[in-house]
Amino acid sequence: MSTAAIHGGWRARDPHGAVVPPIYATSAYAHPSHESLKALFARRCEGFAYSRSGNPTTAVLEERIALLEGGIGVIAVASGQAATTIALCALLEPGSHVVASNRLYGGTTEFLDDTLADLAVTSTTVDPWDLDGWEAAIRPETRAVLLESIANPGAELVDLPAIAEIAHRYDVPVVVDSTLASPALYRPGDHGADVIVHSATKYLGGHGTTIAGLIVDTGRFDPHRRPERWQRLTTPNRRFGVTFADDYERGCSGLLSYARAKYVTDFGATLPAASAQQILVGIETLDLRMDRISATAKELASRLHERPGVARVNHPAIPGRRDAAIAARDFPRGTSGVFSVDLAGGEDAAAAFCDALELFTIAVNIGDARSLVCHPATTTHSHLTPEQRAACGVTDGTVRISIGLEDLTDLQADLDRALAAVAALEPPRVVPTADRALADVQGKRQAPAGTEHSERSLHIV
Ligand SMILES: Cc1ncc(COP(=O)(O)O)c(C=O)c1O
Repeated sequence: MSTAAIHGGWRARDPHGAVVPPIYATSAYAHPSHESLKALFARRCEGFAYSRSGNPTTAVLEERIALLEGGIGVIAVASGQAATTIALCALLEPGSHVVASNRLYGGTTEFLDDTLADLAVTSTTVDPWDLDGWEAAIRPETRAVLLESIANPGAELVDLPAIAEIAHRYDVPVVVDSTLASPALYRPGDHGADVIVHSATKYLGGHGTTIAGLIVDTGRFDPHRRPERWQRLTTPNRRFGVTFADDYERGCSGLLSYARAKYVTDFGATLPAASAQQILVGIETLDLRMDRISATAKELASRLHERPGVARVNHPAIPGRRDAAIAARDFPRGTSGVFSVDLAGGEDAAAAFCDALELFTIAVNIGDARSLVCHPATTTHSHLTPEQRAACGVTDGTVRISIGLEDLTDLQADLDRALAAVAALEPPRVVPTADRALADVQGKRQAPAGTEHSERSLHIV
């Protein structure tokens, strides 16, 4: 892993001997003849024509990720969101259906619910732990199963081999967003995934400088098994004049050739060469970073558990987690640096917690060298319905924490400062009537701070 992370895809091909893959800052590529460019467009040879669909720096990144994830092909794209969009577009058509975990990054849920719905694609969400639920949700028109290997923000793990076995029984490819894990901690292809997507913006880059995305074909998906279902791959493409599935016979990904020719080109979701180089440099230290970050996060999550004001810590190491066995079986090196805490005092407590932090930065990113926090209910997951937020474990008091590379003791001191600020808040004085209190309890809502308790309602609470 650590060797491939430094040398993968770069064999000092630069004519000047550049040691680090240089940024090929060019929009187009000179060809020796008319025939040469014509052959490239006719897909009779490989090479570069125009950087919207490929660039030598980006190609190094693609090759390196293919090695790290054990895939047969990779496309680098403009963002993690573009990776999810393009991967799904390559599998779906109007009338298709997606079965998705209900624990997803908010932007992915919005894409399914809104943009894909506009394109006449429907989706069903399921609790990733409900294996019968996955199977029951699959329909004849289901063309993708979608989940996160470590879910954002509650760090929930899934039994991917069991879910993949169900999906493959119906010849439905499994798409895994493995952003939080990175290939250093978990390779979804080894556990049954067909396609992997990454927001390389996070751990792969690791320095919070660059937005980038990746799509990996693990080599499991074979459109020839159901040629009638995947006609866009298994029959000659009118626009491009080729049958994309033929690429599999050369050991290449027909799915990704199709996705690059059509969607990367049409959507223009190109990763700039300078961004590719930033991610390449980040990947060089991925292996080291993920051990350190995972260990620090585990330790801090365990220490936050059962602290006053903390209703719950969402990390696989917390006693009673249903994914403890998966953590032990599939994540021997740890579960990355993202976890969340649910503060008993709701949004007011979350605000006090975040505002008191001096070392952690309030920002909607994860996987940075710096530790970050955000309040998902009002940011990353704010466009979801209350039911969708509840399903993915986001309460009004949830604070997402992304642990960086700072010293554990300093991070602990900052979290102590934040919890002290929460403790100093006026105790919640709400619950005006017994009925309201009961409704709050039944609905598991926090009573807002600053209103009066009646004796009866206090008793109920
Ligand atoms: C799990 C996950 N997937 C995808 C994305 C989208 O990635 P990007 O911001 O690079 O578009 C994010 C962003 O937070 C994410 O956390």
